[in-house]
Amino acid sequence: MRLINFLMKNVNSKIEYYSRFSPSPMSIKQFLDFGRENACEKTSYMFLRKELAVRFANTMREVNLLPSNLISQPSVKLVQTWYIQSFEELLEFEAQSPESVRTLNDFLDTLNKIRNRHNDVVPTMAQGVIEYKDEFGFDPFISSNVQYFLDRFYTNRISARMLINQHTLLFGDTTAHPKHIGGIDPGCRVTEVVKDAYDTAKMLCEQYYMMAPALNLQEANAKGQEKPIQVVYIPSHLFHMLFELFKNSMRATVELHKDASRGLPPVTALVTLGKEDLSIKISDLGGGVPLRKIERLFNYMYSSAPTPSLDLSESAVPLAGFGYGLPISRLYARYFQGDLNLYSMEGVGTDAVIYLKVLSSESFERLPVFNKSAWRHYQVGPEADDWSNPSSDPRDATTYKSNH
Ligand SMILES: Nc1ncnc2c1ncn2[C@@H]1O[C@H](COP(=O)(O)OP(=O)(O)O)[C@@H](O)[C@H]1O
Ligand SMILES: [Mg+2]
Repeated sequence: MRLINFLMKNVNSKIEYYSRFSPSPMSIKQFLDFGRENACEKTSYMFLRKELAVRFANTMREVNLLPSNLISQPSVKLVQTWYIQSFEELLEFEAQSPESVRTLNDFLDTLNKIRNRHNDVVPTMAQGVIEYKDEFGFDPFISSNVQYFLDRFYTNRISARMLINQHTLLFGDTTAHPKHIGGIDPGCRVTEVVKDAYDTAKMLCEQYYMMAPALNLQEANAKGQEKPIQVVYIPSHLFHMLFELFKNSMRATVELHKDASRGLPPVTALVTLGKEDLSIKISDLGGGVPLRKIERLFNYMYSSAPTPSLDLSESAVPLAGFGYGLPISRLYARYFQGDLNLYSMEGVGTDAVIYLKVLSSESFERLPVFNKSAWRHYQVGPEADDWSNPSSDPRDATTYKSNH
């Protein structure tokens, strides 16, 4: 507690200064062009030392808008110290000339250190939410603030890692994939990533259930051109999303059909290419989810709920975690202007669709900005519902009337 206060005093004015800048969103094409034209390490250094400070400062200001009972949870405090330390390490480069080889090497080391320090931000914040809920219970107003905040906070984190990875892969000594530009594959074959993600999920599924549904993979290229369908994208992001969707579909399929004599219905993946959208649909016959619950699957505060009926043996399933698979995957999709939606038909199965932009010049980072309208989001209190409430009993109407 005291440590944080001490650290905060020193860096507060810098956070305040950098948070006044808005982050500069880059498109995949810009990342690519920069990395291709014999990328200049000095230029990247100059851009990053400010841009990362700006992105960190923006998100650090926003943390302070969370309810104080949440900020004071030990896990949230811990995450804050990581951000402060990383921010301070970046500030050390403020006055260092890009002409020094030593500076450039130190910067590489610092970026690696920062990335590793922030590895566990997501589970640690999740822990903070659980701590809060154990103490104060579930509150819809707090939950909507937490939802708004974590979507922005995790997007900010994804974006910082993107910037760091591009720099360290282009200029560090780790040998990157020869055809990739940093983390970007200019000719990413979508079906290859689908197969990879399926195979990895299948391995987990078989470990746990001794069985896994087959994959039925289809491609439809509406532009009639090249097959297999390719896209300029970050394969690790695509893998992340698909892996989560496959795990979910496999678990639902096996849980519903494991005792059926007909065996398991396959999971279908359909990859389509249009003028604007590249879409990937993962469909299963795992019994689906009722509509009422779909939104909750993306809610951080609901998800991290330790379910009372949770069977202990189930918490060991590597196939499912603490319920962050879907919300984080959707953030990856939205980060470059795509999306991820779930369409379910209860009793039958679920379609999950990932949308990506076809044009890398349109795939701009979607970044949270700390400003007045963000601030306002945290202030609006719960208001009276402006739609009728279905749970109110009509028989109460008379009492209601007589009371007014
Ligand atoms: N394809 C699906 N079919 C049925 N239920 C699903 C499907 N995908 C997700 N769900 C439900 O949504 C919940 C949340 O999914 P997710 O965010 O991936 O977290 P986790 O898998 O760790 O629980 C799952 O636990 C499951 O109950
Ligand atoms: Mg999951």
